[in-house]
Amino acid sequence: YKSEPDTDFVLPQNKRWAESIADKWKNIAKSGGYSAKPVVASKEIESDDAVEVIDKSQYHDGVLVGSYVRAGAEDMHEAVKIAKEDPDGWRDLSTKERQKILLDVAHEFRKRRGDLIGVAAAEVGKVFTETDVEVSEAVDFLNFYPYSMRKIEALEGVKTTPKGVGLVVSPWNFPVAIPTGGVAAALAAGNTVILKPASDSVLCAQMVCECFWSAGVSKNTLQFLPSSGTLAGENLVTNRDIDFTIFTGGEKTAYSMIKQRPDIYLSAETGGKDATIVTSMADRDQAIKNVIASAFNNSGQKCSATSLLVLEDELYNDKDFKQTLADAASSLKVGSVWNFENRIGALSSKPSGNLEKALEYLDDGEEWLIKPSCAEEENPYMLKPSVRWGTKSGDFCHMNELFGPVLSVMRADDLKSAIDIVNSTGYGLTSGIESLDEREQKIWKEKLLAGNLYINRGTTGAIVIRQPFGGMRKSAIGSGRKAGGFNYVTQFVNIDSQNKNI
Ligand code: ALA
Repeated sequence: YKSEPDTDFVLPQNKRWAESIADKWKNIAKSGGYSAKPVVASKEIESDDAVEVIDKSQYHDGVLVGSYVRAGAEDMHEAVKIAKEDPDGWRDLSTKERQKILLDVAHEFRKRRGDLIGVAAAEVGKVFTETDVEVSEAVDFLNFYPYSMRKIEALEGVKTTPKGVGLVVSPWNFPVAIPTGGVAAALAAGNTVILKPASDSVLCAQMVCECFWSAGVSKNTLQFLPSSGTLAGENLVTNRDIDFTIFTGGEKTAYSMIKQRPDIYLSAETGGKDATIVTSMADRDQAIKNVIASAFNNSGQKCSATSLLVLEDELYNDKDFKQTLADAASSLKVGSVWNFENRIGALSSKPSGNLEKALEYLDDGEEWLIKPSCAEEENPYMLKPSVRWGTKSGDFCHMNELFGPVLSVMRADDLKSAIDIVNSTGYGLTSGIESLDEREQKIWKEKLLAGNLYINRGTTGAIVIRQPFGGMRKSAIGSGRKAGGFNYVTQFVNIDSQNKNI
């Protein structure tokens, strides 16, 4: 199995290609005319309930990329009815036939890589390199899920039938890979699907759906329902004909989904308070590079982002290490994503909640190694990386997910107490260790409670098959196998199995 390669933007031809994407999408963003509409029962829905989409490529309030129409309650009921009927017979196809179509979808993603990068830059404020890896991941999902479905079916004694109707509720921060992964898995398993994207990434989600539709997945098989979250909560999540939900987002929403529909399968990936431990046995330069990328790429707006850095005493007191960390964090350029020197674009929204509190407040004994500041005056969306120093066990920034470009540095006596500090957050999504010592790596692997454990690599950017992605504890409310893992698709089929390996 071969992973889809990312683009090497250093090559001159790829640089020119990136410039052409920027020219095209800057103009689209300027015209403010890009639009999206719900698609139900093969028809586009017209409605006065339209929402303006702010241009986040540089993020100034009031500048628009376009707009999208929101589905109403009746559209939602109609969509579920059609999904249940499955008029185009997706469920009747063989896994092999579905695989052929999904491989064509993968090819559509390859063809539209540039436009997917452009729309995510304009709508979500993602820098090119970050969306580029998402497109590769989307292609990997489309290749892998039908493949794993076929492997499972080929196991002796296993017979599967699709669960029925899947609802995919996707987040804005991975506007390409996550909706594609959910939709691809549900379709590979033979289900019809309704995609309800996050309100901040509807235009991206529409382009994702276009890749499916133009490669032969019908608009009855995959329906598209941008809508208000509340309305979707009341009319989609609760609909008795939805058979399972794939959700990525906040814990609270996951809990309320379980409360609303305790009877159906929820595959949920919720938040994280992810840490990297650096011991005195680390390659220090490599450690800083990995931590900086994991903490600040996409402004730390990733459930997998390192937001705690736990240093063994020797490193915590090493002035050179501290200075290099500070220099590295403050060297990251923040600004318009059309300028390729900028490694970080705008935040998705003005800091609020935990992030706002973390920017304004220090616990006793904490100090700023790098104070929060904005790259552009009066533009709170262009937030530069900041680093807190001396966070202690139980402090606000030890225990709470911030989802922003703030790294908190903690001291630990030794590896054992570093592991305790990390485990006491109660989350368990990703975790990293920087150490060249195999004995330390082994202890950490045995004791650290997280779904994805990374050694000397950074905590973000899981690769399909190689690093199946998913957490434990507060990071995995409900059920949920790891995305990009062999048995992920089995969540969406009923299995009549004599085979003990499944
Ligand atoms: N799958 C994403 C990552 O690994 C969230 O960073």
